Amino acid sequence: MDRKCLFSEKNIKVGPESGYDNYIMAIESSCDETACAIVKNGREVIANVVASQIKTHEKFGGVIPEIAAREHMDAINIVIQEAFGQSGLKPNDITAFAGTVGPGLVGCLLVGLNAAKTLALVHDKPFIGVNHLNAHLCANYIDTDIKPPFMALLVSGGHTQIIDVESYSKQTILGETIDDAVGEAYDKVARLIGLPYPGGPKLDKLAQIGNPNAFELPISKVGGYDFSFSGLKTAVLRLVKSFEGKDLPVNDICASFQECVSKTLARKLHKALKEKGYNQVVIAGGVAANSEIRKKIFEFEKEGYRVNAPAMKYCTDNAAMVASCAYFNTNTYDNIDVEVFSRA
Ligand code: KG4
Ligand code: ZN
Repeated sequence: MDRKCLFSEKNIKVGPESGYDNYIMAIESSCDETACAIVKNGREVIANVVASQIKTHEKFGGVIPEIAAREHMDAINIVIQEAFGQSGLKPNDITAFAGTVGPGLVGCLLVGLNAAKTLALVHDKPFIGVNHLNAHLCANYIDTDIKPPFMALLVSGGHTQIIDVESYSKQTILGETIDDAVGEAYDKVARLIGLPYPGGPKLDKLAQIGNPNAFELPISKVGGYDFSFSGLKTAVLRLVKSFEGKDLPVNDICASFQECVSKTLARKLHKALKEKGYNQVVIAGGVAANSEIRKKIFEFEKEGYRVNAPAMKYCTDNAAMVASCAYFNTNTYDNIDVEVFSRA
């Protein structure tokens, strides 16, 4: 599609129908990662730089928005320069500049989005604003040839959704969490059992050496394709309390929690997949890096489904997925005046 250059009257074609190679530079700064990437034709990563703030937020046990925004300010120019350096490309070689608009932390989003807008203005190229959740889904296009339609499970720190992806731009949310997101539940349970931030990946590691059948935890009965994880969190709290004064069987608790979560997600995703009759399914978002969730969903392959999950580095926040989303025009915002937003 034609996208407007910002100073001249020129239009530049961006996307699969442009007829030439596209190099999109994207910036992501919605939470605690400052990232910049250059992606060729939506699928081939030419440069990928991620500056993580984990070390800063570790001591607080979670992300402090004001501190995160300041860290983005410190890192943003460095990640942009490094992406140019890795790629060997010059600003003029870039077809369009993209940035995450939301959802996310407003102060953090402002840093990356304004950097992307400025690059587009200075180099007279199109600007493309991207929705962070759509970008997570588009991580599935990187290094693969997968195309919609497919069913998708999006699991991140803020969202848990089953999405019917009919085309690059037509997506319908079939169900979502009515309380905590899966990543949030992981992080809260991790904190309960004394694991440091960010708890999700650490809990996953311990779960792999624990017994998944050690404790029976409740599977939520919420209907349709919706999810609820707050009851499970409370059940873990009760379980932890029952060990007061005794050694906490941390690995077994982690494994039992992980078993319950992964079973719930896989069951509902499988149901949606069967109901819709698609033969492809993808997972996306930070929690898609989880070993047991991946394992259970990849088991669908035995029934003949094509299953795709992004490489680990494209599951958690990164800018390559944002560039891919801009290329495939997945419900993007092409207006330079677009404002950041915090909630979906
Ligand atoms: O998508 P993401 O990087 O940021 C958001 O957009 O929310 O997801 C971050 C979430 C955190 O809650 C983190 O604990 C969780 O993903 N996470 C995991 C794993 N790796 C990251 N949760 C469970 N198992 C993992 N291996
Ligand atoms: Zn994310």
